[in-house]
Amino acid sequence: MRELERDFPDRPDTACPPRALKLAVVGIGRAGGAVARAAAEAGIEVTPAGRRDALEACLASEAAILSVPDDEIAVAAEAVSGAAGALRFAGHLSGAGGLELLAPLHARGTELFSLHPLQTLPDAEASLAGAWCAVTGSSRASIEFAREICERLGMRPFEVPDEARAAYHAAASIASNLMIALEESAVELLERAGVAQGREALVPLVLRSAANWADLGPGALTGPIVRGDETTVAMHRAAIATTAPELSGAYEALAERARGVARSTATPPGSIEAGQAGIDRLAASVPAPDPGRPLLVRSKAELDAALSPARAAGDSIGLVPTMGFLHEGHRSLLRAARDRSDVVVMSLFVNPAQFRPGEDLASYPRDEAGDLAAAAADGVDIVYAPRLDEVYPEGFATAVKVRGGLTDVLCGDPARRGPAHFDGVTTVVAKLLSSVRPMLAFFGQKDAQQAIVVRRMARDLDLPVEIVAMPTVREPDGLAMSSRNAYLTSDERRRAPALYAALSTARDVALTSGDLGRGLTAARRLLAEAGVQPEYLEARDAEDLSAVSELGSKPVLVALASRLGSARLIDNIVIESEVTG
Ligand code: PAF
Repeated sequence: MRELERDFPDRPDTACPPRALKLAVVGIGRAGGAVARAAAEAGIEVTPAGRRDALEACLASEAAILSVPDDEIAVAAEAVSGAAGALRFAGHLSGAGGLELLAPLHARGTELFSLHPLQTLPDAEASLAGAWCAVTGSSRASIEFAREICERLGMRPFEVPDEARAAYHAAASIASNLMIALEESAVELLERAGVAQGREALVPLVLRSAANWADLGPGALTGPIVRGDETTVAMHRAAIATTAPELSGAYEALAERARGVARSTATPPGSIEAGQAGIDRLAASVPAPDPGRPLLVRSKAELDAALSPARAAGDSIGLVPTMGFLHEGHRSLLRAARDRSDVVVMSLFVNPAQFRPGEDLASYPRDEAGDLAAAAADGVDIVYAPRLDEVYPEGFATAVKVRGGLTDVLCGDPARRGPAHFDGVTTVVAKLLSSVRPMLAFFGQKDAQQAIVVRRMARDLDLPVEIVAMPTVREPDGLAMSSRNAYLTSDERRRAPALYAALSTARDVALTSGDLGRGLTAARRLLAEAGVQPEYLEARDAEDLSAVSELGSKPVLVALASRLGSARLIDNIVIESEVTG
């Protein structure tokens, strides 16, 4: 623009456009028609012209507006450049196009302007009254002229620098054209979801949203994103992926924008605007979700929705089933799952079905907030923490039972926890495996019998999952990490390392003497010396849990359970066949 001004230092700027104005409007499309009609109504002498009579009309006018498509403006300007002597001002109605499109006229002394009504003009009858209008000029005089025209047509002018026209027009396009595309996308999604009245049903919502936005600006944003309800967003994502996948990219991009708007408008509790927008913003003022935090889902539907993109993409899913109150043992499972899977799901469910009457179901330690923080730190993607009735709805009548000598020995001995304990475990794990459909599921070797039972279940039921047993994680003094260690008094805690010491002794003595019996005897002695009474200390085949009395070619599981106060602790050690060889 400055360049153009420099080109014409000898033309004095005039701030007063002529009162009686002769205006040629070349090209009577929707915009040109609306401008010509409004100009005529404003008392301006308008000569509408087509391509053929354009020069003639311009020669008879003081000003001209070239209202032709953007890519024809330069040609039209060239065509009427012969009228430059008559035309004091020439302009166009392009939103993004610059003044250089009118260069042939400018070169012959006409001052330039552009004038873009910020209004959607579906036809030439559309009213311009009240619309804002972007104006640009090659000189102060042409800018003032454009402003004057705008005002006489009932519009509100504002200046946009020539070099910013494309950005200005992109903004206008987002607000208007793309909004239509957006609404049509919503209609399409609704129709594909089987709602025939898509557009009709959406109109009141769209109009109210627009009116709210006009009143409240970004504060008009309502809905799941501003509430931080990423579970619902995940459900949307999954529904779009299956119903209208071509909209997924647009949804994600807009959801991200909405998160930005929500962050920028976070309102402290108490300063609430009236109405629904205020209510939603109150919800949003609850601490913003940590973006690194795993997605917390509580129903199978939410879980499915959250996993659907991963499933569609063929990503591998790793499951770590837990009853919460995470310790380093659990966390080693989470990290292993993270290393070996694309998506990590941690389940968090204290399963009543695996507790016997009188056991510690009610007092089992719980710390969901701490568990979520640990899960976040270990890169868990989804925490599935179902409610009781989600896992065991009314009328639930099925149990998954593994027998074959795996569940009625050791902890499954009817005099101890009994096979029902493992029935509870296998039932819930079968449900978790079927809900999550992981490729890998991670269990701790501390619960060796559980891992063996679950592995057999997966094998017998042809479940497409690999059961991974991860090494026991221990305190520095050897005590196996367990949520139930929280029950130990300081005296019990001092004696508790005797369990692993006894197991290590059993292994070492058995290996050095070649006599498994001697190893077990040495372990019992050590436990007695530590004041620890074993519930059982047994050697079993590490795969099928059959009783073994001597070392052989197969790994031997030496398993131990003991009650210390209110804590029932279990631990085990495997004597490997290669070592025994
Ligand atoms: O090992 C546990 O924590 C539980 O037995 C399990 C596998 C999560 C099933 O409830």
